[in-house]
Amino acid sequence: MSKKAWEGRFKEKNDPLFEKMNRSLDFDIRLFKEDILLNKVYSKELKRIGIISEEELELIINGLDKIEKEIEEKGISLFTSDIEDIHMGIEDLLSKRIGDIAKKMHTGKSRNDQVATDVRLYLLKEINNIKAILKDFISCFIDIAENNIVVPMPGYTHLRQAQPVLFSHYLMSFVWPFLRDYQRLSDSVKRVSIMPLGSAALAGSAFPLDRENLRKDLGFLDISQNSMDAVSSRDFILEFLSIISLLCINLSRYAEDFILYSSEHFNFFELSDKVTTGSSIMPNKKNPDSLELTRGKSGRIVGSLMSLLTVTKSLPSTYNKDLQEDKEPLFDAIDTIKDLLNVNIILLKNLKINKENMLKSIDSFSFATELADFLALKGVPFREAHHITGKIVSDCIESKKRLTDLKKEDLISYCEKFKDLDDNWHSIEKILQKREIKGGTGINSVKEQIKMAKSILKDLC
Ligand code: ARG
Repeated sequence: MSKKAWEGRFKEKNDPLFEKMNRSLDFDIRLFKEDILLNKVYSKELKRIGIISEEELELIINGLDKIEKEIEEKGISLFTSDIEDIHMGIEDLLSKRIGDIAKKMHTGKSRNDQVATDVRLYLLKEINNIKAILKDFISCFIDIAENNIVVPMPGYTHLRQAQPVLFSHYLMSFVWPFLRDYQRLSDSVKRVSIMPLGSAALAGSAFPLDRENLRKDLGFLDISQNSMDAVSSRDFILEFLSIISLLCINLSRYAEDFILYSSEHFNFFELSDKVTTGSSIMPNKKNPDSLELTRGKSGRIVGSLMSLLTVTKSLPSTYNKDLQEDKEPLFDAIDTIKDLLNVNIILLKNLKINKENMLKSIDSFSFATELADFLALKGVPFREAHHITGKIVSDCIESKKRLTDLKKEDLISYCEKFKDLDDNWHSIEKILQKREIKGGTGINSVKEQIKMAKSILKDLC
């Protein structure tokens, strides 16, 4: 058993139940690389200000390098059960390896500025990892859209058929929100990349550390301007969880569509066996579990945001142990979002598209707007044109006809302006051609849209 750093002030030992509750090592062990880097950089600064000698620095750095390898290999088993957290753990291992010199390493710093610095470093690394996966995920939509530019499908509002659109346009409708998620992640970096180290417990270190040196060596963009804010604020984690929650809301919407569209009722695409499951009783089933878990785990990530919002609300100034509760929701959200994005990359890369079914499913009534628009172009006020077309639709439904079954004479009986209507008025090509407006579902517009998205994606940083 190791001695606790703060034992001098205490007469009794911690109750084992409390010790277990107080221990964060089981989850903050994942900060070990950041903590070791911080200790190395910090020890260099301690040497510069004369707290440790050149030889002591060498011993510390070599010792920390060895400990890093040991933790990589052996993990949590290296630490005794009384170790509170990764910061105490690394110092304890170092003391066991190089003796009392290790105890100089904590001069002028506190776990309060240390943990805030470690988490920021860790999050910066993970934001980059998530961005790389998100970029690949976005590319999948663009690739499918590019390979299927001219495939018409029914477009829906209120989950009722509305107007035909291009499947490529539909796919691109997911690219833009995910690009915004990416940009939000990039933008948050300038607020995450702020170094608290040097703030010590709350009042700022009493030692003449050069925080600029520390910042450069740790790779932060900036240093914190107020020690009390630096040790207590977790809004950088909240911002990250908010961004990931928004990403999840977007993911859950895509997942819901794909669950529906791959069902037997729509049958627009088939999901690969790689990302689906069968039923233990019904041999016919192929269930879209990967998409359902995407939808479900999105709830879990929004839950992480709610959890940390609730933990941090109304906390008194500076560090409080409540803040130890920031790590599990953060780590869980990071792991979950990476898995979700990676699984959906596999799903999209193996998606089988049933072009014929999409085309066949377009309901003739989804052409009704074309008739109303035609009358409006002929000078009929749109509201009246809408009313006339509505009556045509209603009569068709009653007589069990499709809108496209009507002859020109039938239409003229509702409004004589239909006499100039092109016989081909309901050709999908024509309908799409009319929507070459920027951002519309016309073939050329979609091609332009894809070009634009690809150039944005290429320049993303
Ligand atoms: N394990 C702690 C955390 O994650 C480190 C900071 C402890 N600070 C303290 N004053 N007890 O928040």
